[in-house]
Amino acid sequence: MRIGIVGTGNMGRSLGILWAEQGHEVLFGARDADKGAQAAELAGHGAQGGTDDEAAQFGDVILYAIRGVEPSAVLSSTAVLDGKVVIDCNNREIPEGYAFGPLMEESLAEKLASQIPQARVVKAFNTFAQEVFELSPEPLKDHAVSVFLCSDDADAKQVVAGLAEQIGFVPTDCGPLRSARMVEALGDFIRFMIGGMKRGPYATISVHELPEATDRRLGGRQPGS
Ligand SMILES: NC(=O)c1ccc[n+]([C@@H]2O[C@H](COP(=O)([O-])OP(=O)(O)OC[C@H]3O[C@@H](n4cnc5c(N)ncnc54)[C@H](OP(=O)(O)O)[C@@H]3O)[C@@H](O)[C@H]2O)c1
Repeated sequence: MRIGIVGTGNMGRSLGILWAEQGHEVLFGARDADKGAQAAELAGHGAQGGTDDEAAQFGDVILYAIRGVEPSAVLSSTAVLDGKVVIDCNNREIPEGYAFGPLMEESLAEKLASQIPQARVVKAFNTFAQEVFELSPEPLKDHAVSVFLCSDDADAKQVVAGLAEQIGFVPTDCGPLRSARMVEALGDFIRFMIGGMKRGPYATISVHELPEATDRRLGGRQPGS
């Protein structure tokens, strides 16, 4: 698969390297092409560096890892994203004292999708810190860490599920893009745990299904009143 990284910061560099290791063709894009080239050199595996425009042009899948700046301000033309799978890993800025307001009315992912309406936006990879990628794919896969996936395009979501699984995560379907409101709130919560509650950057959040209780010694679930 050809993957273009738009915004080679911590997220772009880390995910791009992991996907290059898995045999994907990766082009690291940055405002300064030298930064993209440096990431490509670190990645090896034939990865390339260039500008954000070149990355957007190159990829069938695009990682959009720029917070709070819309694609029309980053790319010469956003039409280059039409029909492509665009992964949104972004979280909003943390307010002073983690004093987040009420649950958002529109997620960053929905906003991004409205800015590039012909692209196939998938929310993913926003519920753990960069450090978790350093464990990927081994020993990460022993820990069943969820990547929460939201999209209105089932095929695009399946593509990103595959990319998550290859690098040691458990893809966890969260339904439509609208669910990104909850998943971004999970991103807020985990950053509060990491920083506010001082659990550190290896804290994360996953969905696990437990084995069914066989004896129901507590009487089982009764109808609520
Ligand atoms: N880091 C994490 O642990 C983590 C985890 C989950 C989600 N996230 C989310 O992922 C997103 C990226 O985080 P990050 O840690 O990778 O950030 P970062 O290391 O600060 O990188 C930010 C990237 O955005 C680019 N950028 C900023 N303003 C730009 C503009 N006006 N035009 C073009 N490019 C611009 C920067 O380019 P330059 O290098 O040219 O400045 C850089 O490549 C954020 O939304 C963050 O909330 C981060």
